[in-house]
Amino acid sequence: MLEFKQNIRGNVALGVNPLGCKQEVLNQIDYVKNKGAYQGPKKVLIIGASSSYGLATRISLAFGTGADTIGVSFEKGPKNEKNLGTAGWYNNIAFREAAEKEGLIAKNFVQDAFSHESKQEVIDYIKSEFGGKVDLVVYSLASGRRTDPETGETYTSSIKAIGEPVVGPHINMQNQTFYTETLEPATDQEIANTVKVMGGEDWELWMKALKEADVLVDGVLTTNYSYLGTELNHSYYGGGTLGRAKADCDEKAQNINELLADINGKAQIVVATAVTTKASSVIPFFPVYCIGLYKVMSDKGTHETPIMHQDRIYREMIYGNKPEYDAVGRLRPDNWELDSDTQAKTKELISQLNEENFNSDLTAYDIFYKEFSNLSGFMVDGYVDRDVTIEELKELTL
Ligand code: NAI
Repeated sequence: MLEFKQNIRGNVALGVNPLGCKQEVLNQIDYVKNKGAYQGPKKVLIIGASSSYGLATRISLAFGTGADTIGVSFEKGPKNEKNLGTAGWYNNIAFREAAEKEGLIAKNFVQDAFSHESKQEVIDYIKSEFGGKVDLVVYSLASGRRTDPETGETYTSSIKAIGEPVVGPHINMQNQTFYTETLEPATDQEIANTVKVMGGEDWELWMKALKEADVLVDGVLTTNYSYLGTELNHSYYGGGTLGRAKADCDEKAQNINELLADINGKAQIVVATAVTTKASSVIPFFPVYCIGLYKVMSDKGTHETPIMHQDRIYREMIYGNKPEYDAVGRLRPDNWELDSDTQAKTKELISQLNEENFNSDLTAYDIFYKEFSNLSGFMVDGYVDRDVTIEELKELTL
């Protein structure tokens, strides 16, 4: 029988509990179902669909609006008892099983979304088996590397400051330590590479390919998740390499708007709130911001997990009557995080943190750690253990 172990290296989760992943997907589905149905898109393509924001979006749209979905992601299946694959692999399967039970189409493509071939395969599928067109394209990819499909060159992103080094507190969840980290400034090449990986170029390539293939409905919407943050994380996020990549997405949104003008389409940047994800856990200093922020927001009743946030975005803002835009047209569901009292209290709280108290009742370390564990199927509410064999896991199909 397999033993599922939560193996953490630094702030990266290596272990996975496939049963826990399934339970976590079911919990998110319950969350959406309990909120009831809403009117929205019926045919959705989600690029980066297997975890956190992309998965939450897919769950909200399938179980909230009854949408058929195509999910593209890059995950690994089980190989042997020591290598069970990635959480996203099991999330994809759990999602498909649950969606199919409701009579929904839930097609999983597990491949490199950056390649031309990937785009073509998805287009062929939309034409042959998905009704010919999609009405929403969600771009929720987070990756450390990207191979340019034109040149074959591979770029690696760097999470770094720009100009000056940043020194500040950081957490290591493996050793449960709180320590001072120094983040060096990026070189111009590192900035350019990060924009190449996490900027909007691939989003635009997807939209061009989909438009050219005539698989977008008139009035199509495409969303892309951004983060702007606050003065508490500007030095290493908004003002750093990731901020440059997000600014590039803003620019590419303009290009996509022009591209889609003749079919009345729209590219929407959604500035989302800070949440615990595989991608955000490895951003230096960010977990410290989160354990302060979540504490303040939990006390106020405004803390959200990805499913809560994405469900609110689509149900109440995009397809509801409570959208809030900023001066340049970005959707701003992050306004709860940016609330001035929330930020002032978070700043005050973070300034008091040290090695002794960072994981005490003073902070939301417990919430952050549980949410981080949930991403790999550990500490999941409602989880029931049972014996599983590697053969059983290998038989699960996408
Ligand atoms: P995540 O790491 O949980 O998910 C990334 C997704 O991209 C996964 O489905 C993964 O399989 C897929 N992916 C990665 N490389 C791929 C490839 N080559 N081909 C196909 N699929 C690939 O990331 P998370 O945190 O949900 O981020 C999604 C977006 O939301 C990002 O743009 C991120 O910047 C943004 N965001 C995140 C916030 C946070 O606090 N985590 C806050 C605001 C925005």
